[in-house]
Amino acid sequence: MKNYRTKIISNQEISPGYYRMRILAPGFSETAHSGQFVMFRVQRSLPPLLRRPFGIFRTGSLPADCDGLPPKEFVEIVYKVVGRGTTIMAELHEGDKVELLGPLGNGFDAPSCDGERILVGGGIGLVPLYMLAGELIEKGCNVRLLMGGRTRDDIFAVTEFERLGVETYVSTDDGSLGEEGVVTKVLERKLQKFPKAEVFACGPMPMLCAVRDICVANKTPLQVSLEESMACGVGACLGCVVKGAGHTEERPSYLCTCKVGPVFKAQYLDWNALAQSHGCGGCE
Ligand SMILES: Cc1cc2nc3c(=O)[nH]c(=O)nc-3n(C[C@H](O)[C@H](O)[C@H](O)COP(=O)(O)OP(=O)(O)OC[C@H]3O[C@@H](n4cnc5c(N)ncnc54)[C@H](O)[C@@H]3O)c2cc1C
Ligand code: FES
Repeated sequence: MKNYRTKIISNQEISPGYYRMRILAPGFSETAHSGQFVMFRVQRSLPPLLRRPFGIFRTGSLPADCDGLPPKEFVEIVYKVVGRGTTIMAELHEGDKVELLGPLGNGFDAPSCDGERILVGGGIGLVPLYMLAGELIEKGCNVRLLMGGRTRDDIFAVTEFERLGVETYVSTDDGSLGEEGVVTKVLERKLQKFPKAEVFACGPMPMLCAVRDICVANKTPLQVSLEESMACGVGACLGCVVKGAGHTEERPSYLCTCKVGPVFKAQYLDWNALAQSHGCGGCE
């Protein structure tokens, strides 16, 4: 983990309300892996002062300059404008100075490749799945990505996933792109076809709860990336703790999302507590 005082290379709207920011970050890709995140400082002296967490979409490097300077390594984040911080971020331009802490947290664990890998991403939850897809494809896995959104605006980077060799399926609640309905319907169908699959998911809590229920019913291994609110991102404030499986008043189990996660094997989490804290009912 390193604190980068660096510059924006580009910051473009890729779908209404969704931006992709490329940031100069020498050495970042050497330690980053899929599912990790960065803490982005929006501005130094004016509110909001707290850094904001964002998943790593990808890392890469620009070709070496003609004048012999080395290639420029970068990290890319994709963010949705939802509040004050992201509104300010959307107004930043090439060359603007920014501060970035990362890579942080524990990412996906995808050691071997026996069987299908199904990735489920809802809206901005697609972000950490791009690097994961690349890593799985490199290991020779068959990777299917189920992309879900409320409308077509929530679906992005389809061609980029496909260029990696991923088979993509799109569904939107309003049917404005792909199949009409929720992405978990597609997951149910895919698991009937590929009963030995392993599932990796990131998205809003109601989607994660539904994915978890389906995986439990099918005895399918599942890893989820949680997007709990975070203040420090480094384990200091305990603002991001979630209850672990088996938590009771007598034997409490708390997991710090920014240090232990944000990616967890589903069986280690208390799903009822998660669902209740996000106001989406209990998980079966
Ligand atoms: C590990 C991690 C990875 C994330 N990755 C991404 C990503 O790749 N792209 C992206 O766009 N967002 C991501 N988020 C969410 C992102 O951090 C928030 O959207 C952002 O901090 C909002 O800042 P803001 O100042 O614009 O909004 P605020 O003004 O702080 O809040 C605006 C609204 O957004 C809600 N909100 C704030 N944080 C979250 C959150 N974590 N989850 C759900 N709702 C929230 C608030 O409750 C409020 O209603 C991630 C969060 C975590 C913890
Ligand atoms: S965000 Fe501060 S401990 Fe996790």
